[in-house]
Amino acid sequence: HKMLNLLFIVLLMGKQSSFLIQFPFVVILRGDVLTVTSWLAPIVWEGTFDSAVIDGIYKPLNVTIATTVFAVGKYITYLKDFLESAEKHYMVGYNINYYIFTDQPENIPAVTLAAGRSLWSLRVPAFNRWQEISLQRMSFIRKAIEEQIRKEASFIFCLDVDMRFDNHWGAEALGNLVAVIHPWFYQASRDSFPYERRPESLAYVHADEGDFYYGGAVFGGLIDEVYKLTGTCEEHLVIDKGKDIEAVWQEESHLNWYFIYNKPTKLLSMEYLWSDEKVKITELKVVRLSTIKKNLAAVRPN
Ligand code: GAL
Ligand code: MN
Repeated sequence: HKMLNLLFIVLLMGKQSSFLIQFPFVVILRGDVLTVTSWLAPIVWEGTFDSAVIDGIYKPLNVTIATTVFAVGKYITYLKDFLESAEKHYMVGYNINYYIFTDQPENIPAVTLAAGRSLWSLRVPAFNRWQEISLQRMSFIRKAIEEQIRKEASFIFCLDVDMRFDNHWGAEALGNLVAVIHPWFYQASRDSFPYERRPESLAYVHADEGDFYYGGAVFGGLIDEVYKLTGTCEEHLVIDKGKDIEAVWQEESHLNWYFIYNKPTKLLSMEYLWSDEKVKITELKVVRLSTIKKNLAAVRPN
């Protein structure tokens, strides 16, 4: 039986077709995309997991998943859709603590949350450059983990707010240290990854290094892992600032540096971070979370 399955897989692979085979109990396979990294971290795509099995593992643990978003300045206008769509698709059935970092807690929209889900607001100053909000994010998350989150949750996801959930985004995304492949660089070659290339920055990545280009809009994992990640990025951001150098993509550049030396244990495919501005490709069977097309001039302070 095993041999027959193997033969079947080999035959299909030979045809180079985009396929999905699901044998009972054992083999679930996507042949058209990379589903595992060279360090054996899974890359999560539709067709590589069974939600019922995953929920069977995580639901009994009664885990709480912290979820941070920054809704500063005009970005607060994204919060309503973000939260409403999250209530429909994001970790449905799990305990969620949303931590909303904002300069205007009074403008947090009233959104009905399901049982086991709650929302906290954490005050941050208004900044006059959007880059500053990005740069300070690591430090605010690190502090919040230290002071509050670590007592209240066991996993954390740090998400951008200018996004909308469109489909199931669930417990299959949980892992020790989780990164998402940036949708604009899925098929790009390493030399075109927008890493920081100036050696003066601590986010500097040498031309011979780097596995994937990860998006800063989604990262997460166990609280302690993300505490280490945000702490290290914060230190590096502070040192860079002292040298008056700002990495090309702010905290995303430092995040990418971090993931080269601290390999993520799970990677999320572009299903987990898509963009409304991208033309869909055949490998994308489902969009779970998408960046909203925005008028940057209208929402950014600079
Ligand atoms: C953009 C994204 C930025 C940054 C950049 C990297 O699509 O909006 O936040 O990730 O890609 O090139
Ligand atoms: Mn964003």
